[in-house]
Amino acid sequence: MSEPFPLTLRRLRQDEHVRALTREVHLRLDQLIQPCFVAEGRGSAEPVPGLTGVMQETPASLLRQTEADLRAGVRAFLLFGVPRARAARQIDWSFTAGQIQALKARFGKDIWLAADVCLCSSTPHGHCGVLNAEGDHLDNDASVQELTAAALAYAQAGADCVAPSDMMDGRVGAIRRALDAGGLERTVLMSYAVKFQSALYGPFRVAADSAPKTQSALRDRASYQLDPARPADAWLCAERDLAEGADILMVKPGLPYLDLLRDLSRAIRKPWAVYHVSGEFAALEALAEKGLAPRAALHREVLTAFKRAGASMIITYGARQARELLDL
Ligand code: PBG
Ligand code: ZN
Repeated sequence: MSEPFPLTLRRLRQDEHVRALTREVHLRLDQLIQPCFVAEGRGSAEPVPGLTGVMQETPASLLRQTEADLRAGVRAFLLFGVPRARAARQIDWSFTAGQIQALKARFGKDIWLAADVCLCSSTPHGHCGVLNAEGDHLDNDASVQELTAAALAYAQAGADCVAPSDMMDGRVGAIRRALDAGGLERTVLMSYAVKFQSALYGPFRVAADSAPKTQSALRDRASYQLDPARPADAWLCAERDLAEGADILMVKPGLPYLDLLRDLSRAIRKPWAVYHVSGEFAALEALAEKGLAPRAALHREVLTAFKRAGASMIITYGARQARELLDL
């Protein structure tokens, strides 16, 4: 006679050995991407509010930080350049291109360097594209031209990957064609394909100096980033960027869009990246800071959710702390 309630499923949860043996999802340090910010004309590196361990770097500190990151086991980086000069058109991409060149000259194939391609840190108004003459809309054609020039400059400087984050129409195809025509067919294109308009980008906009500065219709990025209440548009964006030649597709932010990450990654058999964005990261740090949750466990739980939902790679501000924090 067995007891009325015998062990059934709990048998395989009883100790760490059997839990490890039965685990299905694993975090890997070689699938974490560390975002980095480098600003022109700063005397010294500045901590980014809310993002523990992340700095707005100077060109010199960026090299030192990258060296430390390599020692910490990080190999993949996503670089955001913040130039001093801003322009509405014919933007000069040389500052960020120079940083890419310096990183690749120093670290070569020891690092995989993705460069974020966008206009918001380079335009006076802080939008991700070029404004029309009336100032009430982003001109798609003009924006794609600027973005393509940026991607080409970054790829020529040696970026392993270019990652357009602007959300203009047609930019993936235009960038792919320009890269191929320029003899850069090996440069990987990671599209921020499924990027929502979100309140979770706050700390990033401080670090990238990229908040929209215009009013009225263009006070936010709703006219180009996706509406959280319109998942159908996520599918259209993913399918479009796939057709235009994106190698890697991304969902951003992460946790609020886990449903889409799961469904899209199952349906579209491309590598999927997920961006655990600045506000999401800072929220966990704030919980831990207040002593309301254990920091390492918070990060592990969230990153595990991304893996479970189908991400291959995860962009997280905590990549450089993964060894100590996540025991990777
Ligand atoms: C914009 C861009 C954003 C992020 C990266 N590139 C969002 C935005 O400002 O609208 C967000 C990243 C983060 O919050 O960590 N090109
Ligand atoms: Zn932008």
